[in-house]
Amino acid sequence: MSLKNKTAIVTGAGRGIGEAYALGFAKKGANVVVVDINPSDAKSVAKKIEKLGSKVLVQISDVTKKADAEKMVEETLKSFGKIDVLVNNAGILFQEPFISSTEEQYYKMYDVNVKGVFLCAQAVSKQMIKQKKGKIINVSSIAAIVGQTNLSLYSSSKGAVLSLTRAMALELAPYNIQVNAILPGTTETPMAAEALANPQTRAQLTSGIPLGRLGKPEDHVGAVLYFASEESNWCTGQTLIVDGGYSMV
Ligand SMILES: NC(=O)c1ccc[n+]([C@@H]2O[C@H](COP(=O)([O-])OP(=O)(O)OC[C@H]3O[C@@H](n4cnc5c(N)ncnc54)[C@H](O)[C@@H]3O)[C@@H](O)[C@H]2O)c1
Repeated sequence: MSLKNKTAIVTGAGRGIGEAYALGFAKKGANVVVVDINPSDAKSVAKKIEKLGSKVLVQISDVTKKADAEKMVEETLKSFGKIDVLVNNAGILFQEPFISSTEEQYYKMYDVNVKGVFLCAQAVSKQMIKQKKGKIINVSSIAAIVGQTNLSLYSSSKGAVLSLTRAMALELAPYNIQVNAILPGTTETPMAAEALANPQTRAQLTSGIPLGRLGKPEDHVGAVLYFASEESNWCTGQTLIVDGGYSMV
């Protein structure tokens, strides 16, 4: 599976799963666009990519802003001339019981997790339509398909990502653009750190995983490389669950 000379944009690439995706693309020889709202994290990932010998562009963007999504596309084209892959990975999570969740929390969650995917995918699709080629990979979550306590807003936003994936896949298929989704299970990243700091929660989550351990960011790289590569050219509108088997039981 080669991604040599491909250009891959990864949102939320400053840490966690997004960083692993970005480094995974770099190891396969792709040019990587590290998109994040946090400048220092983004720059530190860019340094790691340079050390791997790949070309990198850092784009400090807020995925909830249309102008930022358009600039991300513009700057990528200036640096690399084309966009082969977009990974919509940036996301946020907070835990709140359904009954006390607020309207403000609703908008915040949906702004990043749903609107962010919509805006970045739309901006990039315009270029991919011109190219008549492209791969869009949306990062959802097993929370979209399995009920989890205190995650009603998060889960439903990730469910929307699945619906958006299928709708986009259908409309973009005539342009040879494949749109797929990855559903990670609980993975040791800064996002999950708060929940995993509670030993009871950690033990409970781990015991539900048939493969016997929580995920590491690197566990997700194979799935993203598959959806980004030519090997997945006849696969669109699909979901790949990477969760150690958690959601099958
Ligand atoms: N960690 C898990 O257990 C887990 C499980 C299922 C799904 N996911 C999903 O995987 C993706 C990555 O999760 P993670 O655990 O690596 O999270 P993380 O919080 O560790 O990293 C998320 C990154 O996104 C960036 N980001 C947040 N808001 C942004 C915005 N508005 N614009 C640009 N960048 C922004 C952050 O700065 C950060 O670098 C998310 O979509 C998350 O919902 C994570």
